[in-house]
Amino acid sequence: MLAVANFGSDAKFRRWSILEIISVLPSHFALQSGNSGYPGFIVEAARSAAEDWESQDKEATEETTKIEAAAIPTLLEIVEAELYGDTSFDIGPETNMAMVGSKVRVLDSETTNRIANNDIDKENEKNIAEIGTLVRDADVEILMRIDDLLRTHFAIFGFTGVGKSNLLSTIVAKIFASTQEPIKLVFFDLMSEYTGLLVDQLLSDEVDGRLLTIGRNTLPEGTFKYINGLRGAPKNTEATTQFLRYTLLPKALQGKRSKMERAFLDFIKSEKVRYFNESKSITVYDLFFTNEVVTWAKERQEARRQNRLGLTKEALRESRIRTDYRKVHFSPDLAKQIREKLEKLLEQQQYAEFREDGDFANHISKLEELERSTAEHLAASTTLPDIIADLNDKTRHSLWIIQSHSPDDLREFSHNLGSELYESRRLSGVIDPSVSFIFDEADEFIRSGGTGSYENSAKIAETIARRGRKFGIGLGIATQRIRYLDTNIMSQPHTYFISKLPRATDRTAVSEAFGFGDEILNQTFKFGKGQWLLVSHDATGLEAVPLPVKTEDANERVASFLDLKYGR
Ligand SMILES: Nc1ncnc2c1ncn2[C@@H]1O[C@H](COP(=O)(O)OP(=O)(O)O)[C@@H](O)[C@H]1O
Ligand SMILES: [Mg+2]
Repeated sequence: MLAVANFGSDAKFRRWSILEIISVLPSHFALQSGNSGYPGFIVEAARSAAEDWESQDKEATEETTKIEAAAIPTLLEIVEAELYGDTSFDIGPETNMAMVGSKVRVLDSETTNRIANNDIDKENEKNIAEIGTLVRDADVEILMRIDDLLRTHFAIFGFTGVGKSNLLSTIVAKIFASTQEPIKLVFFDLMSEYTGLLVDQLLSDEVDGRLLTIGRNTLPEGTFKYINGLRGAPKNTEATTQFLRYTLLPKALQGKRSKMERAFLDFIKSEKVRYFNESKSITVYDLFFTNEVVTWAKERQEARRQNRLGLTKEALRESRIRTDYRKVHFSPDLAKQIREKLEKLLEQQQYAEFREDGDFANHISKLEELERSTAEHLAASTTLPDIIADLNDKTRHSLWIIQSHSPDDLREFSHNLGSELYESRRLSGVIDPSVSFIFDEADEFIRSGGTGSYENSAKIAETIARRGRKFGIGLGIATQRIRYLDTNIMSQPHTYFISKLPRATDRTAVSEAFGFGDEILNQTFKFGKGQWLLVSHDATGLEAVPLPVKTEDANERVASFLDLKYGR
């Protein structure tokens, strides 16, 4: 960062505008006009420029070469009370323009630290995490307010392999380590990679870490049987081997496979690998009054709606349900009772058209299935109300990693869980603890113009992005395909981490959404893995000024956890 004297200075105070360098490039007078002009001259100019670069390596002996730095305003200034011989200074909002032509001062690490974290009071504020350091200066630590980061939504953009998943792992570890106040993080893990990337958090005593699997075929057969205590289950070691085989490990952790296997064994023994028991989560209301579980077999039947409702109500009346249908789950008996009544009613003459058209066929077969599946005892079974209760619980950190072999099921589940949580908080006015729904590969969840399950996951993401904040529910997204994202959602996050984006269309989408100039994003071309342009409206101490930061390698954290716990 640079300080330039500004016109606000007077006899008492010296004021310096603070600028941030965004690019540094060598330039040569002979090549100013680029490659247009007479080719013979250009080639000659280039040759002499190349000679100058070499011969003036240490020192510019001629005025032909310069290093050009471009800098942008931070809208802050340094105020020095120079006259009183005082060396302390304040930082405040910029009061005047920088003086064109005046010499600039390059700021040292200590001053840069104060500026980069200007608004944050590290000593007195709670819930602050140190997220990384400046790329150019490892002595400058960048602080973030955890609640603002989560509640006002964050996004991570960058090409494949730049370190998005790795950064998410680092963010989780930093958050849990930095605050005592309970934080709830929910990952929708399409690639099955977070069990490995967050294994230390899943096994931590400070965190309730769970892997939630959706659908019978998500876990390998042996693992599924083992966690549910079913007949024919293999030994825990075999269950672990199968489980590890299905988990994606980063290359850097492949060498630690045997220690990872021991960690996974501890993990499945701790009963933290769960199975989402859909049949125990479906309510009477879901089945009969929404299209979430089954749809009516015949479409184009708006006209029959009233009649169908009449039949439904009559079928349910017999079961004497006294509470709200939304709160009633199926037992084998209830499913059987309703099905039998429904079948009996369909035999009556007045419902002949329903019988002939098979209107209730889907409901009847679902009731048959529920009668069977709700009778089954699965030890690892977890229901939607269990998860909601945990997300509203104020005593501990929670981490839910949610995986499914079916991307459609995962999208649908994100919608069901999100809606249920949102409604539970809206109805009871709960705003704590902070919950973040994190979608890695976000283009698979919040695509613009998606249909079916895509439409549902996008819908819940939009609800959270627009209205979640009031109830302490935030959204975190990571993706490389920005132009596919729903723009309504894309413009909501207040914090972004941006890395290399080779496609111009993706860069344009980012610049337009956040009002950046091209030159600001250009610096990301040179970024390596784990380097990000971080910009935030409320979570950092420097509002809306992009800071190039370097974040730790999560693989190293996981590797040292494994070494420490399971020996070198
Ligand atoms: N902060 C970092 N420091 C060093 N290496 C990193 C960092 N982040 C990622 N990497 C390396 O890059 C690889 C790919 O990272 P990953 O998070 O899977 O990328 P993405 O999710 O963007 O495709 C990692 O396995 C790791 O080796
Ligand atoms: Mg990734």
